[in-house]
Amino acid sequence: MLINNDTIIKDSDPLIRKPSEKVSLPLSKEDHELLMNMLQYVRDSIDPIKAQELNLRPAVGISAVQIGVLKQLVAVSIDYGEDGKSEYALVNPRIISHSVRNAYLKNGEGCLSVVNEHEGHVFRHARITVKAFDALKNCEVTFKVSGYEAIVLQHEIDHLSGHLFYDRIDTNNPWKEDSEALVIE
Ligand code: NI
Repeated sequence: MLINNDTIIKDSDPLIRKPSEKVSLPLSKEDHELLMNMLQYVRDSIDPIKAQELNLRPAVGISAVQIGVLKQLVAVSIDYGEDGKSEYALVNPRIISHSVRNAYLKNGEGCLSVVNEHEGHVFRHARITVKAFDALKNCEVTFKVSGYEAIVLQHEIDHLSGHLFYDRIDTNNPWKEDSEALVIE
């Protein structure tokens, strides 16, 4: 399946609001390929040459619903430069616990499926515990993440229930602050 900025569905498409179905395990060849293609999209999207050539919009994560497939599949690739990469290819991810403390990105969030500007702080949990089937390790995993990675995973997992980042912006006070929260630059 070709994944690029033209095939990624936008929030004008009602499908983006539909909940995704649980994926059966062991992972079928088709689902595995789809998830690996999604991961490849995020990897390639931050390479300016590939992004231009292949019509990719830069991103750190993508969910299957964004390519019109209502399956609980999430791919994330965060490049820390010399410190390496942090990648996830998750099937049926669930947040099983989270911190009381909030976190948000100082400049708000973006999304491949959102074209219009939606400014404001998107309040999320600073730390989460995720349970999923990890397609890179080929086993069930439970892991904790915090800060930026926790925000990215919450954004992608939100897609699986049809939620978009701007649903979490306070429309009356979009840049509302929380002095206790972890604020990420
Ligand atoms: Ni998104």
